[in-house]
Amino acid sequence: MNSSNQDIKYEKGDNKYFFKMFRFVRPYALPYFFGKFMHSSQGFALPFILSVFSTSVMYAITSRSIDGVYNSILLLFAMFIGFMIPFIFGIYLNNMAEQRAIRDLKKHLFRSFVRNNLESATSKHSGEGIAAINTDADVASQVYSWPLSDFLINVINIVFASIVVFVVDVRMGFAAVFIGLIGFALQRRFVEPLANVNRRWLTANADTVKSVSNIFSGAMTIRAFNMQEKAAKSFEPQNDQLRQLGIKEGLITAWQNFFSLKINWLTLVVSFGLGGFLVATDRMAFHLLMMLPLMCSTLTLGFDNVGRAYANLQGPIAAAKRVHKILDARGAMSKKDGVQKDTNGYALSVNGLSFKYMDAESEALQDINLEIAENKMVALVGESGSGKSTLLRVIIGLYEREDLGLNLGGLSFNESSTQNWRKNFAYVDQSCKLFDMTIKENISMGKGGKATDDEIRAAATRAAADDFIGQLEEGYDTSCGEKGSSLSGGQKQRIAIARALVKKAPILVFDEATSALDTQSER
Ligand SMILES: Nc1ncnc2c1ncn2[C@@H]1O[C@H](COP(=O)(O)OP(=O)(O)OP(=O)(O)O)[C@@H](O)[C@H]1O
Ligand SMILES: [Mg+2]
Repeated sequence: MNSSNQDIKYEKGDNKYFFKMFRFVRPYALPYFFGKFMHSSQGFALPFILSVFSTSVMYAITSRSIDGVYNSILLLFAMFIGFMIPFIFGIYLNNMAEQRAIRDLKKHLFRSFVRNNLESATSKHSGEGIAAINTDADVASQVYSWPLSDFLINVINIVFASIVVFVVDVRMGFAAVFIGLIGFALQRRFVEPLANVNRRWLTANADTVKSVSNIFSGAMTIRAFNMQEKAAKSFEPQNDQLRQLGIKEGLITAWQNFFSLKINWLTLVVSFGLGGFLVATDRMAFHLLMMLPLMCSTLTLGFDNVGRAYANLQGPIAAAKRVHKILDARGAMSKKDGVQKDTNGYALSVNGLSFKYMDAESEALQDINLEIAENKMVALVGESGSGKSTLLRVIIGLYEREDLGLNLGGLSFNESSTQNWRKNFAYVDQSCKLFDMTIKENISMGKGGKATDDEIRAAATRAAADDFIGQLEEGYDTSCGEKGSSLSGGQKQRIAIARALVKKAPILVFDEATSALDTQSER
């Protein structure tokens, strides 16, 4: 349950993960950005409509025109409705594109995870993958939604409000931009603390998921040793860390709000003060004073919020970095894909094979030499941990390495795509892992899920499984349960063997898969 506390520090270059996330938006870029723009323009449109309304009412009042007041109200409704339609349409388009991008992101993430699951850093624990596909992907995909919307809304606000304020009065324009820049600088200070809090939160969250999945997968053992209390307690430190980080983030948000409020006050004081002075000294028309405070605070808060949105993007960026660690990992099946070379017979030779697991300190296999002629049955014997399982997995091509010194019927492993290489082997692993599917589906997986009923039955018969399957109430449609939990150890092994046999591969590789069988069926 050690935490993988790497990447905890904020790094400047991490912003690249923000842009990397947009690779999933690319196919839907047009509806996404058009919708985003429509959606984001609301922040400016509403204050703008209100300012135009109040200015026009004020003008009507000062020129004592009751029709002018009515017309202003009509104008307000017309502007409002004219704005609503593209706004709602924009939200719809943007959301649709965003949901598709999120789906694609998760699809790629899951695929990368399955591909690299053998020995990448994340494969050490299923909890890491569960956290990545759920929380990390969800947090990362926020870069598509609110912090970016916030950012755009406020950039649009700054542009349009500046035009309005500078057109009304240049002096007011400069004052507002100056206050806005102070706001931006203040909010910018929160980027680093927020990035760090978010990084640590995501790591702690992954650790929590790991802890839970660890406890669940060992539920039987925990009960057998009466360790329920201790197991339940092991969850608490991470949970407590999440609490601490949550409080820290809340505090940062409070400070962000505090500065935004202060900037807003300052803007109102300056715009009324300076505006009042300009009106009182006849340098500005009175009714324009109705427009300035609202437009000035749209402008200054625009700057403030851009800084804030940048800080708030740090959580999603931290998650995007975690997600890309999996997405960018080199696919185990990517190398030499598509090379389809046939072997000439099935004599296997291993020449000077050494093998080290990715994160291991020392080599698990050292200088192995082996010749196995075609049609021979060979057993490997060795102490526990001596590397028998490793050797078998290397031979059947589960690990991508240069120069493993493997050769099958004249075909070198280096020349073959791993997928092509694996076609030659049917493998029953030491744990006889089954999936939470029916017996039929589990066996059929040996042939890519395409085995016919007859083939399944024939394989089961050869694996001495047909008899006991026939006695089950639902026969071949019986569910195996999670990890094959509804079957006995020997039954699981027989099904795993049937799954290997149905592949009809030229070479059968058993990793102690008959240990739970009686001697009769072992033959
Ligand atoms: N995924 C892995 N990552 C790192 N090291 C591993 C991994 N799997 C096995 N090892 C290490 O490689 C060595 C060989 O393990 P292996 O499972 O091949 O032994 P074995 O001979 O099959 O043992 P047993 O008879 O108990 O099944 C051991 O020291 C083990 O700790
Ligand atoms: Mg083994």
